Amino acid sequence: MDVTKYDHSARGKNAPLYEYYAKKIKDETGVVSGRCLDAGCGGGYLGLALAGITDLEFTFLDVSPEMLEKADAHIVEDGLENRAQTLHADVHKIPLPDECMDLVISRGSIPFWKDPGKALSEIYRLLAPNGKAFVGGGRGTPEMRRQFERNMKKDGFSGPAGKRRRPGGPDDPWQILKRRDFNQILKDVGIPRFSAPIESDGRWIRLWK
Ligand SMILES: C[S@@+](CC[C@H](N)C(=O)[O-])C[C@H]1O[C@@H](n2cnc3c(N)ncnc32)[C@H](O)[C@@H]1O
Repeated sequence: MDVTKYDHSARGKNAPLYEYYAKKIKDETGVVSGRCLDAGCGGGYLGLALAGITDLEFTFLDVSPEMLEKADAHIVEDGLENRAQTLHADVHKIPLPDECMDLVISRGSIPFWKDPGKALSEIYRLLAPNGKAFVGGGRGTPEMRRQFERNMKKDGFSGPAGKRRRPGGPDDPWQILKRRDFNQILKDVGIPRFSAPIESDGRWIRLWK
């Protein structure tokens, strides 16, 4: 992935997408203070949007140092140094103690996880009593999705080299999200409370303790 290009779109024309999901997460979970982990955060777009409408303190986790460099820069741009930090780690083995998070969020990363069951167990382990997780992906409302896909195309994310990843193609992360049997995956790893519906604005797995 071209990190600079992705970052440019995410902070620019695709920014409304993150604002949309941040509001959805806030309205649905009601978690507005305490600690929040953004897992597979990229440049931190979703967490930063949520930071703008809550008092949460953030850890931004990603395996890509290049993405975390972007996240660090955006934390400073948004004036959030006093309540945000980055963490270079893999979501399958998160170097944080049990029950340390009130909320875990993640957008657009799960299709890339090698063992989603293991990663979701890690996320569940981190949840404090009454903690909630909101993990999945999507491109907003159907209208936002069309705009997002047009933006991605314009920005060169669907050229010949990316044919399989093209929106609708077999490796399109959204297709992977829809296809996977997350209900079975979550049952298999013994997470007791979850839902994993496919909605008009994406697929979002909710976990709660
Ligand atoms: C498509 S980007 C999504 C970034 C951001 N969350 C967003 O919504 O725009 C996927 C991100 O997941 C990260 N990622 C992939 N596998 C990961 C893993 N095993 N652990 C942590 N991060 C991972 C990638 O480095 C990348 O930043």
